[in-house]
Amino acid sequence: MPIVLISNLVPGMKVSKDVIKENGIKLLSKDTILSSYIIEYLYEWEINAIHIEEDEIETINVRKEKQEKFSKAYNNTLNKVEECIEGLKGSNNLKLEYIRETIADIQGFTEISSMLQTINNIKDKDKYIYQHSINVAVYSSFIGRWIGLDESTLKKLIYSALLHDIGKTRISKDILKKPGRLNDQEYKKIKEHPIHGYNIVKKNKYLSHSIALGVLQHHERENSSGYPFGVTGEKIHIFGKIIAVADIYDAMTSNKVYKGRQSALKVIEELLNDSFHTLDPKIVRVFVNGLTDFYIGSTVILNNGKVGEIITINPMHPTKPLVKLNNNFIDLRKEKDIEIQDILIS
Ligand SMILES: [Fe+2]
Repeated sequence: MPIVLISNLVPGMKVSKDVIKENGIKLLSKDTILSSYIIEYLYEWEINAIHIEEDEIETINVRKEKQEKFSKAYNNTLNKVEECIEGLKGSNNLKLEYIRETIADIQGFTEISSMLQTINNIKDKDKYIYQHSINVAVYSSFIGRWIGLDESTLKKLIYSALLHDIGKTRISKDILKKPGRLNDQEYKKIKEHPIHGYNIVKKNKYLSHSIALGVLQHHERENSSGYPFGVTGEKIHIFGKIIAVADIYDAMTSNKVYKGRQSALKVIEELLNDSFHTLDPKIVRVFVNGLTDFYIGSTVILNNGKVGEIITINPMHPTKPLVKLNNNFIDLRKEKDIEIQDILIS
């Protein structure tokens, strides 16, 4: 019966011996399935290690190894993007060699499972802008594939998404990092970043016009409420529409303090609720369907401690799927007290 250090615990492991504090209080019972929520409590309770069921450790370690490999690749890409964005601050030239390498990296990030976990796990406040650029490029590449873009168009979309906020390098740090509300003047400056970005991309003769257009229009909205020009949906380039969805989704997942991986489903639900009239409904649907599809078949831990499997997800209510528990089916749309506490991604 192996003892596993808290830092090596992952959701899905099964506790093989009651966890009891020195004062005799039982914290966890044998056979409890760990969720990320429970693991966080173990840290708070200052437990160092616990007994874990042996036969599951191997599969979980394989999953962990795969995940670590992917995190390394992601961090490597992150450094290149940092180099590229920082390099632009003192000059007008994009370091195309770094960008080309980054695009190739992102095209290789096709495994949604590892990608979603990595994005969820790596959140470094100081590197937000670089992470955000990569994440938006990755989400855009998923959408591009799901709507059937050809490889050459897809590549241009990834360029555009990676560079979507490059214009922020032309805006003062004081405004970008200002805590609290911006005044009208400052907000006006921020709203200029798509135009700065467009100009930076246009200066480079190797980058096509569609790449610049996606950068220019990623804050335009279907009902003309966006900026910089407030155009309506039919005047927004498909790249601008796709990047808008990816941009908003990543900003939502980064701002939220939801614990564990169930956050992805909550954010999808919020995206659906908030996007009426502003985002292209077809693109939102493709994105939501693609993401929710990926969770079908996943193991979930419910707030009553039971473990089940997601059978179907109604894309309009992503946080309330149909779950199979032993031989029973539970429709979470009807069971108001039961919620998903954690999702285990295989
Ligand atoms: Fe932006």
